[in-house]
Amino acid sequence: MLKLYTIDEAQLYVAKARQAQRLIGLIPTMGALHDGHLSLVHQSGRECDETIATIFVNPTQFGPGEDLNRYPRTLADDLNRLEQGGATAVFLPSAEEMYPEGFSTYVDPPEVSLPWEGVARPGHYRGVATVVLKLFHALPTHRAYFGRKDYQQVKVVQSMTRDLNLRMEIVMCDTVRDPDGLAMSSRNRYLSPADRDRALLLHRSLMTAKSLVRQGVTSVSHLQDAMRQVLLGELSDHPGQTTPAAGVDSIDYAVIVDAETLSSVSTLERPAVALIAARVGTTRLIDNEPIEFN
Ligand code: PAJ
Repeated sequence: MLKLYTIDEAQLYVAKARQAQRLIGLIPTMGALHDGHLSLVHQSGRECDETIATIFVNPTQFGPGEDLNRYPRTLADDLNRLEQGGATAVFLPSAEEMYPEGFSTYVDPPEVSLPWEGVARPGHYRGVATVVLKLFHALPTHRAYFGRKDYQQVKVVQSMTRDLNLRMEIVMCDTVRDPDGLAMSSRNRYLSPADRDRALLLHRSLMTAKSLVRQGVTSVSHLQDAMRQVLLGELSDHPGQTTPAAGVDSIDYAVIVDAETLSSVSTLERPAVALIAARVGTTRLIDNEPIEFN
């Protein structure tokens, strides 16, 4: 696995691979890699001739009170995992390489960035869109793989790619979960065992919404009420369970929205997605599931 440190090296690598008619996949990450990230590497490995991962903890997507400085950094382990996972190259730029002195141009992100995470984390998608565009220019591959785990992020990247005529195919890969349902996340390592139990409520809440829809419920306000109740520990999803578990500490949002625009809907007529952001202890977690109906 080749290590690329500069944008020049990255562009040359991709130019040579393109000249050799090789199909190339890109996996942008911030490191602290887990099996969710690795599933993107594997999918690219199955579909492409070359798989290039990037590791860059992007400062512009973190807000003032957020965890930039304590974001986990596990480079040696990340490189091992990428190599084992079949990545052919990894781009490891420094902060100066990505944001040299005098940097001042940002992407104004698309409309789909405005609700939900856009409200909870002002400026976040501006930073994401900017760094993703810069990575696409450093590594103009054929495809880029993103996880459904960050559903709104995928929609932001898809819209930007379309709006700015980028020649990049965006592939959305399924969320990888621990066996008990917790969506894998670099931030899960901050959870104490008791908090990890409460973190499971996000997945339970999503499963409750899906099962109500399967039973024929189509009122979005009814579904959202049930999602909130599960998150707050007020609604048991296990028949026979009498004392509900403690709930999450706070809910940023627990909604069912249009799967393309992420705008609110009142009934299920078009494809929808259930989105949750909640805080457990000091850790902010997000999760989502597609809502199928008919
Ligand atoms: P990061 O959080 O490191 O995630 C990198 C990629 O892995 C994203 O596409 C994310 O959706 C995906 N991913 C994370 N957890 C996953 C899981 N449990 N199952 C499937 N995929 C998962 O997202 C970012 O980095 C950054 O915002 C980035 C796009 C790299 C821009 O800085």
